[in-house]
Amino acid sequence: MKSIIVAMDKNNGIGAKGDLPWGRSLPDDLAHFKKLTTGGSVIMGRKTFESIGSKPLPNRENIVVSSRPTGVQGVLTARSMPAALALARYEVFFIGGEDIFLEALNEVDAIHATMIDAEFPEADVFFPQINSQDWREVSRNHHEADKDNKYAFDIVEYERA
Ligand SMILES: NC(=O)c1ccc[n+]([C@@H]2O[C@H](COP(=O)([O-])OP(=O)(O)OC[C@H]3O[C@@H](n4cnc5c(N)ncnc54)[C@H](OP(=O)(O)O)[C@@H]3O)[C@@H](O)[C@H]2O)c1
Repeated sequence: MKSIIVAMDKNNGIGAKGDLPWGRSLPDDLAHFKKLTTGGSVIMGRKTFESIGSKPLPNRENIVVSSRPTGVQGVLTARSMPAALALARYEVFFIGGEDIFLEALNEVDAIHATMIDAEFPEADVFFPQINSQDWREVSRNHHEADKDNKYAFDIVEYERA
């Protein structure tokens, strides 16, 4: 099983200036990310790896796609997406960014998408449109904004149609 896990705003924005546009304002979404990916193999681009502090995510096999090795202990580097997939020993989660998601869309069985009910005009990287001819929504869980989570969001799971 291979899947994408992504969080995006109403315009499919996923990042701004090397960070999440909404920063750390959605801890419940980060908890969902951690719960789903723990024990798996996470595949990410070099800039995403830098955005999480150039450290491996704990309790996951971390694979960074880059033309150069990261030199960081506890992280595997792959020069291409097929090479990354060949390294993965556990359930695969593609965790971004933009180019990784674009390539991964052809590979995955499912998309776990957090749809944030907000717009971030400063977004400079985007997720492609999820085409309803190719993808079927199988579940949707709504989270209201609350004292810890600044924006409302839906966690939506898609499977290939
Ligand atoms: N909202 C979300 O769910 C989410 C998830 C992840 C990231 N983000 C955000 O997205 C931004 C980072 O994403 P990004 O799209 O700018 O960069 P990225 O995809 O994380 O990294 C791009 C780099 O990955 C390597 N790479 C990508 N595809 C490759 C391929 N096929 N073969 C070899 N190397 C490849 C290259 O590294 P080299 O240049 O080293 O060769 C490339 O420069 C940040 O703002 C981050 O916060 C958001």
